[in-house]
Amino acid sequence: MRVKVVVCFALVMVLFDVPVLARMSFSTNTVISTNSPSIDRRVDELLSRMTIEEKVGQLNQLFFFKQFMKPEMVEPDIRAGKVGSLLFITDPAIINRFQKIAVENSRLKIPLLFGFDVIHGFRTIFPVPLAMASSWDPSLVEQAQAVAASEARAVGIRWTFAPMVDIARDPRWGRIVEGAGEDPFLGSRMAAAHVRGFQGADASSPGRLLACMKHFAGYGSASGGRDYDSAYIADAELYNVYFPPFKAAVDAGVGSTMSAYMDLNDVPATGNAFLLRDVLRKEWGFKGFVVSDADAVGNLVTHGFAEDKSDAAYRGLTAGVDLEMSFPGNPVSNAYATSLTKLVQEGRVTTGQIDEAVRRILEAKFKLGLFENPYVDESRVATIHNNPEHRRLARVAAQRSMVLLRNEGNLLPLDKRDPKVSSVAVIGPLADSKRDIRGSWSFVDDVNSAVTVVEGIRAKVGPQVKVEYAAGVDIARVNQSPFVILQGARPAAWSETQKQAEFEKAVSLARSSDVIILVLGEHEEMSGEAASQSTIDLPGRQLELLKTISGLGKPVVLVLINGRPLDISWATSNTSAILEAWHPGSEGGNAIADILYGDATPGGKLPVTWPRTAGQIPIYYAHNITQEPENKKNFTSRYWDIPSSPLYPFGHGLSYTTFNFSNLRVSKPEVKLGESTEVSVDVENTGRRAGDEVAQLYIHQRYGIASRPVRELKGFERITLAAGEKRTVRFTLGKSELTYWSAAAKGWVQEPAMFDLWVGADSTAMLAATLRVVAR
Ligand code: NOJ
Repeated sequence: MRVKVVVCFALVMVLFDVPVLARMSFSTNTVISTNSPSIDRRVDELLSRMTIEEKVGQLNQLFFFKQFMKPEMVEPDIRAGKVGSLLFITDPAIINRFQKIAVENSRLKIPLLFGFDVIHGFRTIFPVPLAMASSWDPSLVEQAQAVAASEARAVGIRWTFAPMVDIARDPRWGRIVEGAGEDPFLGSRMAAAHVRGFQGADASSPGRLLACMKHFAGYGSASGGRDYDSAYIADAELYNVYFPPFKAAVDAGVGSTMSAYMDLNDVPATGNAFLLRDVLRKEWGFKGFVVSDADAVGNLVTHGFAEDKSDAAYRGLTAGVDLEMSFPGNPVSNAYATSLTKLVQEGRVTTGQIDEAVRRILEAKFKLGLFENPYVDESRVATIHNNPEHRRLARVAAQRSMVLLRNEGNLLPLDKRDPKVSSVAVIGPLADSKRDIRGSWSFVDDVNSAVTVVEGIRAKVGPQVKVEYAAGVDIARVNQSPFVILQGARPAAWSETQKQAEFEKAVSLARSSDVIILVLGEHEEMSGEAASQSTIDLPGRQLELLKTISGLGKPVVLVLINGRPLDISWATSNTSAILEAWHPGSEGGNAIADILYGDATPGGKLPVTWPRTAGQIPIYYAHNITQEPENKKNFTSRYWDIPSSPLYPFGHGLSYTTFNFSNLRVSKPEVKLGESTEVSVDVENTGRRAGDEVAQLYIHQRYGIASRPVRELKGFERITLAAGEKRTVRFTLGKSELTYWSAAAKGWVQEPAMFDLWVGADSTAMLAATLRVVAR
C-alpha cells in the first residue's frame, strides 16, 4: 500500500516546477509575543491551554501532494489543530496558505512545521551523499548543505529529513547512495558536516533548516541488502560501527531523529526503547524530537510486533517516537491521530507521556522562531534560487567528489589541442541523460538545467574537436521503481531491431573516433530507496558494449555514473582509465569534462571497499584477522576461486600527479591510558602539477579483551600541494581514537596494548609506526 501511495505521489510530482511566486498578505501579529520568557515557560503555558485532541494534533505529520490532493482536504484539520506538521510541500504559496490557517484561524494559533527531503540539493543538485563522502572534505559538505538549506528555506521549508548517516557495507542495498559509505570515522565527520551545513550555528537563522539524522538505527545492515529487511547487529558492532555517525550528529547539535523502518534484533526500530530512550536520550543526551519514518508506527502491526493500530500507537509513543509521519489514506496511517486520545481516556497512556512528546515538538517550533515568523517571503524565491554561486559550488563539489580509479599510461587528462584526439565518441546510456546525472531524491530542480557529459565535453573542447554521441544500449529496472514517475516515465524499451541498430551505431562511431569516452552505470532510480538489487553487475548489455568497443584497440575512458560500487572487474583489467563520477548533480557534465581535460585534478577517495563481485559482499577493510592470516604461505585467499581482497581498497583514488609519504613520527611513542600523542607525516607532491592528496591515518590494536579490526581509520586530511611542494600533516591520537566498545566489558574500554599505525594514501598504506599504551 505504501508503494501505491508513493506512486500516486510520484505522478503528481511530475507537475512540480518553479514555485508560484505570488505574494500574499499576512497579518503582522505575532501569536505569542517575542518578549515572552524562556521557551520552557512558553511551552508550559501553551501546554496548559491545550485539549488532548490538540496535543495529539501536534504529534501528527502528514504528506501533502499538491497535484492530487486539494488544500481543502487538509485545511479543516489544520483549523481544528489536528495537524502539527506537513511534508512534501514545496510551493511557498501553499505553505503560506496553510500556515495562515494555523496561525490565524486555529484556536491556539500554533504554527505548522514544513519538512521535505532535502538530501543533496533543492533547486541546485549537488553530488549524491556517497559522492560527497568521496571528497573526504567535510567543509565542502557543509557549504553544499548550506546552499541546499537556503534554497529550501526560500520556499518555506524549515526542516530536512537529512542527513542519512546509516553505515552501509552492502552495495546491493540501494540506499548506500544516500550515506557516507562503510566507515564510522569518515561517516561521523560527514554526519557532523551535514548537520552544520543545514543548521548553521542556529537552525532558526536565515537560510538554515532543522536537520534530521536518519534512520536510527541499523537500516544499512538490512539482510541480503534487501531494502527494509531485518537487521541483526551485535552490541559491539552497533556501538563501534553503526552508532558513531549518529552520536557525531547529536554532538553537532542535530535537532531531530528519524526512526528506521526495519527490525533491529527482532525489535522494530520505531518501537525500540533501547534505541530511542536508552541510547539516544539517556546515553547521548539528545534533546530534540523523534519522527517516525513514513507509516512506520502503523507498520508495527505489519512487523508482527503490535496487535493493532492502537497498540502500534502505544508502542511507538512509549518507545520514544514523538511525531508520526503518515501517508494520506493508507490503512496503517495516522495511528497516533486515531488512537492516542482514546489510549489516554482508557488510561493506557498518561497525559504526562503525551505532554513529553508534545513539548519536544513545541520546543522545536519555538526554537525555529516559527511563532514569530511563520511565513515565507515569496518574492525572494527566484533571487535565492538563481544565485550563480550555487551552481559554481555544485561544479566544484562534483569535481572534488570524483574518484580516479585507474589511469594506465596516463591516458588522462586528455588534451583538447592534441590533434591525435580531435574526434571524441561519447558513448553509453548515461552519456546524455540529464535525469541520471542528478541522482535520486532530485524532485524540484529544473531537470533541463542539468548538464550531461556530452554537453559538458562539447562546452569544454569547443568546435575544433568533433564530439559525437551514441547511446549504444538501453537499460531499465526489471521492476519499476515506485519513484520512477517522479521524474517522468522512461521512454519505452527499444525493440530488438533498434537494439541491434543502436549497438552497431555506437561501435561504428567508436571505430571512426580517436578516443572513446564510455559513460556507463545506473539510472538514478536504480539506487536509492526501494532500489536494492541482487547483483552489482553493470545493468543491461553495458559490459558487452564495453568489451566490443575495447576490442577496437582505441583508447577508452570509462566514466561511471552510479550510486553504488558495480562489478567492473573486467574493465579494471582491460580499460586504461576509469573515473568514478557517481551521480554528480546539476553541474556533473561540466565537472566530468573539467576532470577529463585536466582543468581539475581528481582527488576524491573511495568511502567504500570496492568488491570484485557480489559474492564477496559484505566486504569492508575494517574486518578482524581470524585464524590463518590471509597472507600466510599457501593460504593466500579466503576463497579458492577468487582472491578475497577487494578490487579497489577503501580510501583509494588516484591523481594526475604523484605523492610520496615519508618521515612518519609519533611524538610520544609510549603514552599512558588517557593521554594523547601526535602522529605526523610529510606529504610531498612528486609530480609536475598541483593536486590533492588525502592523508589517512589507520590504527590496529594488537591484542586486548576483544579482537580488533586489522585497520581502523582514525584521522584524515585532504590537502592541496603545488608541484614539488611538501607539507607536514598532523593527527592527534588520544583516548577517543584508542577506545572501543567491548562486549566483554559491556562498555567503552581503553586498554594497555601495542598499536600499529599507518599513514598513507589509502587503507593499504605501508608507512608504519607503533604506539604503546601503558597503564597509568
Ligand atoms: C521514507 C524514507 O525512508 C525516508 O528516508 C524519507 O525521509 C521519508 N520517506 C520521507 O520522504
